[in-house]
Amino acid sequence: LAHAAPRGAFSASALAEPAAEQAAAAAGGAGRDEEAVFMAKTAADEEVEKRRLAELKATNMTAFVYELQKYVDQINATGPPPLAPDNELRDVVLRSSTPPSRLIDDIYNYTFRSVPYEDAMYICAPEQATLLHLLARVMRARECLDVGSFTGYSAGAVMQALPASGRLTAIEIRGEYAAIASRFLSQLPARLETRVGDALAELRALEAEGRLFDFITIDADKQQQQQYYEMCLRLLRPRGLLVMFGMMLYPTEEDKEAIDGLISLVANDTRVTTTMLPVGCGVQICTKKGERALTGPLVPPADLPPAELRAYMLEAELAAIDVALADAERARETGGRYVPRPPPGAPEPPHAGGGGGGSGALPGPKAAGAKQP
Ligand SMILES: C[S@@+](CC[C@H](N)C(=O)[O-])C[C@H]1O[C@@H](n2cnc3c(N)ncnc32)[C@H](O)[C@@H]1O
Repeated sequence: LAHAAPRGAFSASALAEPAAEQAAAAAGGAGRDEEAVFMAKTAADEEVEKRRLAELKATNMTAFVYELQKYVDQINATGPPPLAPDNELRDVVLRSSTPPSRLIDDIYNYTFRSVPYEDAMYICAPEQATLLHLLARVMRARECLDVGSFTGYSAGAVMQALPASGRLTAIEIRGEYAAIASRFLSQLPARLETRVGDALAELRALEAEGRLFDFITIDADKQQQQQYYEMCLRLLRPRGLLVMFGMMLYPTEEDKEAIDGLISLVANDTRVTTTMLPVGCGVQICTKKGERALTGPLVPPADLPPAELRAYMLEAELAAIDVALADAERARETGGRYVPRPPPGAPEPPHAGGGGGGSGALPGPKAAGAKQP
């Protein structure tokens, strides 16, 4: 699960990095020998280390965060060494990116202060959160799903890209972390739906409810990532975006095996177009091709103010265009053998040259199952 913890980004206002730490970072982080020492630690060593870190946390938060970075380097050393993040490069990336919002910063700082360090270091890296925000914005995403939300850092970055009528569904197995996320994220205009439970069960339930999403992020336990991928692909609308974290660096050999298997599946999966970005622990981005998976005509949520309502309807038209484009692409790829089925209960789509094709005929995914006003 390990993310490379954000060097120099604590409190987002970038605390100055101690000179000795800078030198260590420049030297390239933990190597295989250090990893062996790390793996050979006894439970008693761990106890001593826990006490040392607790004391550091109470007296010097900056030093504490950099100590955590060392742990992350050691954990990440089980990944392919040449892929370990280059900290100097990361600093350049962070300095060149829009700084995180106040809320995102607050979640980050609260997590480091209040969550046990062995969990806190799994927080998503700031450059990954910024990337998610940007992608959700470009997608004009409205219905989003976050699998493995932890304290809501990446979920918050996505939610801040949504319109007020947008919604993010957050799945997290640990109730105490979901509660932290909810406390922060309920301040945002977009809606938050929290689902506390095992991701496989929650994803099954979402499918049974007929839900569809524009934008999905997966960042939970890596052993199940392949199953999450398959299930999330079904929950993703055509031309929607699926983003998976932890695709280049892994805490254990078992995770590496699971992710290696997933990478060869995804790279050759004709249902998606995909690429990997070496950002943080490795970000796999997939866009779903083809088949219509939408049901029911469009209805906006009740009580939308006029400006939001207009935006909603226009977005729905865009979503309908996405579906039509995906259908056309699939038909082209199959030499015309693919004929999209109209969703149940919907009027027949207009045939080529018939014009129209707006949200009445080709319902948008963003309010699946509802009726046209
Ligand atoms: C790497 S962290 C996610 C970090 C998060 N994306 C962020 O923004 O900081 C992984 C999260 O997945 C959760 N998780 C692990 N296994 C899970 C499961 N089977 N179902 C749901 N959540 C799970 C963990 O409790 C943890 O909070």
